[in-house]
Amino acid sequence: MSARRIEKADAERLWQAAQKASEHAYAPFSRFYVGAAILTRTGQVFTGCNVENSSYGLTNCAERTAIFKAVSEGADGGKLEITAIACLNRDGVPCAPCGACRQVIYEHGPEAIVIYRAKDGTITQTPVGELLPEGFRLD
Ligand code: THU
Repeated sequence: MSARRIEKADAERLWQAAQKASEHAYAPFSRFYVGAAILTRTGQVFTGCNVENSSYGLTNCAERTAIFKAVSEGADGGKLEITAIACLNRDGVPCAPCGACRQVIYEHGPEAIVIYRAKDGTITQTPVGELLPEGFRLD
């Protein structure tokens, strides 16, 4: 059975990395500043922030920025396997990954643990499979 949680020290490290990344968020339109950090199977950490655009639909979420950075840098020997991902709003507003990001997390980490501040204000760890039941796969 796959893990439902990661160790506290790893979760705290990811949360801090996401917080730092959120300082780079480019969100002049929504003013909703997001940071994300992923822990890969081989222990690497990649971070990302949201990057908005005047053509709103081109906005990239923080989670996907971090994941695309990891893939494009050849993480995990060229086959990224996300162990965990933290995402947060810079100002402490609850923020779970959007549906598009859940699918992208699932692609590279079907067992990934997602760490986020839930609507009740607590920081939770939830397997991506619970946030995205029946995630799509071609293989
Ligand atoms: N956003 C993220 O970066 N990640 C999420 O999980 C939710 C939403 C960004 C997209 C946009 O720049 C802003 O937050 C408001 O939707």
